[in-house]
Amino acid sequence: MNQGVEVESATTPAPRGKFISFEGIDGAGKSTHIGFVKNFLESRGKTVVSSREPGGTALGEKLRALLLHEKMHLETEALLMFASRREHLAQLIEPGLAQGHWVLSDRFTDASFAYQSGGRGLPRSKMEALEAWVHPSLQPDLTLLFDLPLEVARERLDATRTLDKFEREQADFFSKCRDEYLRRAQQFPQRIVVIDSTQSIDAIRVRLGEVLEKLL
Ligand code: ADP
Ligand code: TYD
Repeated sequence: MNQGVEVESATTPAPRGKFISFEGIDGAGKSTHIGFVKNFLESRGKTVVSSREPGGTALGEKLRALLLHEKMHLETEALLMFASRREHLAQLIEPGLAQGHWVLSDRFTDASFAYQSGGRGLPRSKMEALEAWVHPSLQPDLTLLFDLPLEVARERLDATRTLDKFEREQADFFSKCRDEYLRRAQQFPQRIVVIDSTQSIDAIRVRLGEVLEKLL
């Protein structure tokens, strides 16, 4: 009898982990806060895997290098974003969640809606078709949308790094990306939490702690 109980517990799968995506226009503070969220969750006993898109796998990182530095047709760009995502889901996100890990991704499909549809102007229906193909039944459990005015994001970016293909886009492009992000936050209020990124890093951490507590 005892033996039976042991066998059962040994084969009971770990509870599924949670998937959190980080979104916002370039310079909004995603990279700054992902490490804090990882530490916060680890301090609560979670095993956390943090990753990014495009990228997150060996092949995805090769696609990222192309996406961030080569000129290409806007539909090629959208397709490669989703190709990178498909690989990321297959190799890292799905297996991680199945093992009970919490998976953090610096960007996911909301970024394709914001950049390829909002910014570049591809019809949303194309993103919806790709989303339905690549992850028909999976959505992040939580999306943290770091939101701030374009000018503040631009100042922060200019102060820190060499800009890639996207970061060199004009204000109008980022304005459309931001609008699409905010539209999606209204459309999916249960999933997407908007974080006011004009606040200090410390104030944002307090807010992140409150949001994460609800998910734990
Ligand atoms: P993203 O990953 O969203 O492009 P980063 O996290 O790299 O943005 O932030 C861009 C720059 O802004 C970094 O130099 C970072 O230190 C700075 N930064 C991020 N959040 C804040 C904040 N709340 N206040 C002031 N500076 C910030
Ligand atoms: P980003 O995470 O901002 O990289 P970094 O913090 O190193 O600058 O992502 C790279 C760029 O890719 C960013 O400008 C947004 C763009 N992107 C899309 O256009 N569509 C997508 O689906 C994704 C995931 C990213």
